[in-house]
Amino acid sequence: MENIDITTNINGIQLSSCIMNASGAICRTDIELSNLLNSSSGAIVTKSCTKHPRKGNSYPRYFEWNIGSINSMGLPNYGIDFYLDFLERKKITKPVLISIAGRSIDEISFIIQKSNFCSKISALEINLSCPNLIENKNQGIVGYDFCVVSHFLEKIFRFHEKPIGLKLPPYFRDIHIENMSLILNKFPISFITCINSIPNGIFIDVNKESTVIRPNKGFGGIGGSIIKPFALANVFKFYSFLRKEISIIGCGGIQSGKDMFEYILCGASAVQIGTQLIKEGISVFDRLNQEFSSLLRKKKYSSIDDFKGKLQNIL
Ligand SMILES: Cc1cc2nc3c(=O)[nH]c(=O)nc-3n(C[C@H](O)[C@H](O)[C@H](O)COP(=O)(O)O)c2cc1C
Repeated sequence: MENIDITTNINGIQLSSCIMNASGAICRTDIELSNLLNSSSGAIVTKSCTKHPRKGNSYPRYFEWNIGSINSMGLPNYGIDFYLDFLERKKITKPVLISIAGRSIDEISFIIQKSNFCSKISALEINLSCPNLIENKNQGIVGYDFCVVSHFLEKIFRFHEKPIGLKLPPYFRDIHIENMSLILNKFPISFITCINSIPNGIFIDVNKESTVIRPNKGFGGIGGSIIKPFALANVFKFYSFLRKEISIIGCGGIQSGKDMFEYILCGASAVQIGTQLIKEGISVFDRLNQEFSSLLRKKKYSSIDDFKGKLQNIL
């Protein structure tokens, strides 16, 4: 039988499989990260970490139903030193992406500088989609404030050493993706990951007549299969506006090998799994690797380059 190649390359970082976890999906503790290292994912991404440990919001802060998930976690993490220490102690067998978040540009700059010293980190994924983390004038998601993003990138690209990627919030208008791309194209960005959870959703328990999560009056970020059409549209649009040297990692609602195929058809070089990893556990990577390989075999493709970015418009 013909060999199917599901390896990929994210701007020079070689992955044995184009599948990895999404930041925040069972990647916070020592055990969770060790399990990811031992899994069949092509890379691992850490929980978004801050300068100091954070407990996060009160429980219940995550809820899932058949087609989606809602969360308002409040960035619980053990702080950058914990993740650097974890990497120093472990034998690393695949690329590691450290996800970074912070309350201010200074905090993020501090974490980037610390990470520069760790040879086991392949790249940094900076989370520009967390609510209320960077002090921008709207006190909202920094990825929605293009002036702050521009200023932020100018600052961090003065001293970065590792490849830098950006985790972006979803955009809902072409002009926003076009304008964001104009900014991103000016900087030596390695990759973007899109999308983060869709902000400000609410899910209701009709019996209790209440929200299902406690923080933020029940409002939270939405993930799972319900968000896939929006995520695919973001990947496809960014693929058309970004410099071809900037790789795209697709994320949002991936549950099957077919979903992965759709992302790569839209221009993604790799994909991340969030809600489905939380639902199904670490074996999701074996299943997805198999489903994706079988689909490629059926379609007579031998590698992802055969169809990456080649989505057709129906005539
Ligand atoms: C419980 C939970 C925690 C998350 N934490 C983070 C995080 O720390 N950093 C981040 O960039 N994204 C975080 N996300 C967003 C996911 O990485 C992903 O972008 C989003 O859930 C969409 O993917 P999915 O539909 O596969 O879940 C989190 C998502 C969930 C469900």
